[in-house]
Amino acid sequence: MSTILTKRDEFLGAKVIYQIYIRSYSDSDGDGIGDLRGITQRLDYLADLGVDYLWITPFYPSPQKDNGYDVADYCAINPTYGTMEDFDELSREAAKRGLGLMLDMVFNHTSTDHEWFQKALAGDPKYLAYYKFVDAAPDATEDNPGKPPTNWESKFGGNAWEYVPSLNKWYLHLFDVSQADLDWDNPEVRAELANVLRFWRNKGINAFRFDVVNLVSKPAVLEDDHEGDGRRFYSDGPHIHEYLQEIVREGGIDGLLTVGEMSSTKLESCIGYTNPENHELSMAFNFHHLKVDYPDGEKWALMDPDVPQLRNLFVTWQEKMTAGGGWNALFWSNHDQPRPNSRFCDTQNYWFESSTLLPTCTHLMRGTPYIYQGEELGQTITDFESIDQYRDVESINYYRILQERGLSADEAFTIVHARSRDDGRTPMAWDASPHGGFTTGDPWLGLVGNYPTINVETESADPSSPLNYFKRLIALRKAEPIIQRGDVRFLESPSEKVIAYERTLDGERVLVQCNFSGDEQPAMACDGGEILISNYDEAGNGATLRPWEGK
Ligand code: GLC
Repeated sequence: MSTILTKRDEFLGAKVIYQIYIRSYSDSDGDGIGDLRGITQRLDYLADLGVDYLWITPFYPSPQKDNGYDVADYCAINPTYGTMEDFDELSREAAKRGLGLMLDMVFNHTSTDHEWFQKALAGDPKYLAYYKFVDAAPDATEDNPGKPPTNWESKFGGNAWEYVPSLNKWYLHLFDVSQADLDWDNPEVRAELANVLRFWRNKGINAFRFDVVNLVSKPAVLEDDHEGDGRRFYSDGPHIHEYLQEIVREGGIDGLLTVGEMSSTKLESCIGYTNPENHELSMAFNFHHLKVDYPDGEKWALMDPDVPQLRNLFVTWQEKMTAGGGWNALFWSNHDQPRPNSRFCDTQNYWFESSTLLPTCTHLMRGTPYIYQGEELGQTITDFESIDQYRDVESINYYRILQERGLSADEAFTIVHARSRDDGRTPMAWDASPHGGFTTGDPWLGLVGNYPTINVETESADPSSPLNYFKRLIALRKAEPIIQRGDVRFLESPSEKVIAYERTLDGERVLVQCNFSGDEQPAMACDGGEILISNYDEAGNGATLRPWEGK
């Protein structure tokens, strides 16, 4: 193996990253919304957990239509979250504890409140060229704008183009109407974004996450998609590798720890994005394994997870990324996903096993594990009973869209309840006091009712809690080079509900077996070895895996 790959594996394989959804983490000033100082107050907890970097979701000025992923100024702090002094203090205090900060760069689009978009709206040609504006028909009017440039759908529902009467043009928004897509084919746009990176680099930041970054290179010809919602034209688009290389070089971040969020991506593209020889990114998030419970790829419909398909995806992404010199971000959970223990397992009957099986399965794989706040506690999906308790723009849109498609209000609610991004956004529970110690005020989104038992204080005191299991899992990766950089190979297991793989390095072998079911399943023999970690206290008979057992 080349030196550059060996060095990469040694560096990235030893890291664990923790994601903070700032709005829901810790509120220092009682306004019901988490903030930067709130995070600073929790740094000892994070250092004790054993993680290396804190990915913090966007805290920049923003109208918060998409909770900060609608950025109005890339180089400033939203007053709701604090001040630049608060940020600097967080950064200093984190560094003292050996924690790096990873900032979230939302470069596919800006908020329509961004100065650039406002200047475009005022007709300034320089800024019109920053976005994807397309002329409307000469006789278009506000009431009758005609057909949008393409039939592409916004990821949050509805057509992806918005008509601006004063300009007689349409602009593209792959997400909310308030999130206008930037035109990366314009070199001035790329230079502006590289400047943003340099701004944060100058403040000492050395890790970055790039939001939906594989969507930035749009096709030269805009055409209707008769097979899908348009994504096949702009995902992993024509100039994506070139643009990533340029922004990494010009932003001065080559060789730093970076991750790209890759939407509907392909394996070959992700190998390209993350093979260090290409000087693009360190690693990639892909979402294929989080669609194994989407019937025919439809997010807004329900089915049980397809475990054999999940296994096949892991085989592909683990073995083939390795063969191509790529590197995976390992994760089940983030602020866009319902809590995975509730979703893929059985938190009603096996809450501890469900909350620990999933990380056992991914943390021992090849790649860099991510933990999303509250995952380490086994936080579950919400117990909300009414749509009024939801805040997320996508959930609210789809509650309406599903009813327009003919579902009853109850049916629509059942689906939203299982699928909502708010399922993963409920506030972090720190203790059993009102609102889980998250805020002294009124939380912007309700906590899950089980917080009096599922919280940091209670779990810290209990050696057999998910929290203490996560600590052991993190410590295990730190201690074992085989987990950090060993080869990975999936094994044929005797049951289709079991996912099993081995890691090998220098003649040593680690076997991982995970039972994705609530029934006993046959186990694979592992002669003469010791158990490094298991989510059952008792060793068991060795011949069977118990419900949701992972070891
Ligand atoms: C990413 C973010 C998500 C956001 C979207 C648009 O998927 O994780 O929260 O809504 O990009 O920025």
